[in-house]
Amino acid sequence: MLETIKQTADYIRSQVDEMPKTAIILGTGLGALVDHIEDKKYIPYSQIPNFPVSTVEGHSGNLIFGRLGDKKVMAMQGRFHYYEGYDMKQVTFPVRVMKALGIETLFVSNAAGGMNKDFIVGDIMIITDHINLFPENPLRGKNYAELGPRFPAMTEAYSHELIGLADKIAEEKGIRVMHGVYVGTPGPTFETPAEYEYFRIIGGDAVGMSTVPEVIVANHAGMRVFGVSVITDLGGKEVHDVPTHEEVQKAAEAAQPKMMEVMRELVNRS
Ligand code: HPA
Repeated sequence: MLETIKQTADYIRSQVDEMPKTAIILGTGLGALVDHIEDKKYIPYSQIPNFPVSTVEGHSGNLIFGRLGDKKVMAMQGRFHYYEGYDMKQVTFPVRVMKALGIETLFVSNAAGGMNKDFIVGDIMIITDHINLFPENPLRGKNYAELGPRFPAMTEAYSHELIGLADKIAEEKGIRVMHGVYVGTPGPTFETPAEYEYFRIIGGDAVGMSTVPEVIVANHAGMRVFGVSVITDLGGKEVHDVPTHEEVQKAAEAAQPKMMEVMRELVNRS
């Protein structure tokens, strides 16, 4: 494992002049942030040794290095989802490589279904905490002390400092942002009405099929994390909406400009 990470990091280092300290995982809803990255260098996942290849519709697979405003960034265009069949080590491998490259802060975004009754489709939810309902923890198995502690705390999995800064930016820009707990599920099914209700009762505000594995590994590795969801559909016992992949994509695209404005500024000021 350590050797594999090193090999991949060495390859990426050989392709990039100067390493950023900030990485962004561009989930559904933040894809267009790529257009704002200047002096871009693309490295297709298919060229990177040991990297899995993304399969899901609407996600292309590239590492992108460049500048977002004044900040040097590394962006993942397309992530690896557990529902695609990757195991947890594959899903989180890019985060291990980020750490090996010297990344200190990780920004993640996703599309999620809202259970919180105050949410509307198109809302942006800053993730304040998560509930891990994946069947396997990415840290299961041998722990390498070089990568992090055996029993890492998850008390502040999402940096309070970055949440505060994002709130300030959203307020300055007059953009409505909600706060909430993200429930991470394996997918690929959307939830039954009873499941949305259950996730709400246990303390969830939104549910999605990604993010939690990467955030666990980033915390294990001692990185600062900020996460944000676009609410693309609503679920619950009284909601009769039938979510589809197309609807999720469409709602995420509509919310994209707001989300981008906050993220761009946040990355710059973080
Ligand atoms: N459930 C799970 N994942 C999702 C949803 C949802 O309702 N919307 C977008 N991703």
